[in-house]
Amino acid sequence: MAARLSRLLRLLLLLGPATRGPAPAAAAKMKVVEEPNTFGLNNPFLPQTSRLQPKRDPSPVSGPAHLFRLAGKCFSLVESTYKYELCPFHNVTQHEQTFRWNAYSGILGIWHEWEIANNTFRGMWMRDGDSCHSRSRQSKVELTCGKSNRLAHVSEPSTCVYALTFETPLVCHPHSLLVYPALPTALQQRWDQVEQDLADELVTSQGYEKLLRAVFEEAGYLRTLEGSESAQQEGGAKGLVFETLDNCSKAHKELSKEIKRLKSVLTQHGIPHGKPAETSSSEHLGPKTPTDRTAEQLLGDPGLRGNTL
Ligand SMILES: *[C@@H]1O[C@H](CO)[C@@H](O)[C@H](O)[C@H]1NC(C)=O
Ligand SMILES: *[C@@H]1O[C@H](CO)[C@@H](O)[C@H](O)[C@H]1NC(C)=O
Ligand SMILES: *[C@@H]1O[C@H](CO)[C@@H](O)[C@H](O)[C@H]1NC(C)=O
Repeated sequence: MAARLSRLLRLLLLLGPATRGPAPAAAAKMKVVEEPNTFGLNNPFLPQTSRLQPKRDPSPVSGPAHLFRLAGKCFSLVESTYKYELCPFHNVTQHEQTFRWNAYSGILGIWHEWEIANNTFRGMWMRDGDSCHSRSRQSKVELTCGKSNRLAHVSEPSTCVYALTFETPLVCHPHSLLVYPALPTALQQRWDQVEQDLADELVTSQGYEKLLRAVFEEAGYLRTLEGSESAQQEGGAKGLVFETLDNCSKAHKELSKEIKRLKSVLTQHGIPHGKPAETSSSEHLGPKTPTDRTAEQLLGDPGLRGNTL
């Protein structure tokens, strides 16, 4: 009886501190003694930036001058179990709100460049955040008119791509996000020339886009494509951009000549070749013909393709 009582007493003593007192603080004190190294770094009440490792430095501050005052400031939003922090022209981070020792904190993007369309700054891209499968987390920040500076909304429209809405009185004027007025005079003049060349049909619309992009790159609004992730994605289309109508006509002439040559080779070897319209209709509407199956075989063994992908 005495032995049982003393065991019960010991048990009560052990449980005592945990059931009384403010649990997190007590737990924190105990954990510091047990795991001094990891706990300090993962404590949600301590600044966590020390363990966030940015992959690169942010781009220089750029864009409309009246927005520069946002640089160096940070705005946060707590949504369900996460706290999001936006530091314009620097970074977007995410901090899990939990008492667990291994709370998650991550970088959702580092200030990269503006998104520009129709002479308007459409959003701020924060890229090269923490790894997410084979890519990096990235965030697009949209600036909308509001009574005060406020991170108003965060969502994840596709995996590891975040959409942030930042409200600020700085963009309430209808002209506040226009690109042309933000440019230095020399670049405005270059833009004028590009518009003139387009009107005079001296450049194609692709050439126009390319020349305008160069103006935005020089202004520091866009980053050059070399070496960036987006360059690798767009690389395939690069050879198809023609700066002038002359370039385009020349390329068209050469391609027509090549098609003629290839057709004559096919005829020489007695291989039937129809107009493109006929092939596409048999592919989409007609039943499968032997030639379709041959085409499939020519594409290669599906198993083999699966291995190489
Ligand atoms: C994010 O930006 C803020 C504000 O400039 C800076 O203090 C902080 O160190 C940055 N965090 C990271 C992880 O780079
Ligand atoms: C382009 O911006 C102008 C105002 O700057 C606007 O009136 C027009 O509707 C916009 N066009 C498109 C396609 O967004
Ligand atoms: C386009 O044409 C210009 C001169 O008309 C030439 O200098 C340039 O190399 C050409 N570009 C391409 C991609 O053919």
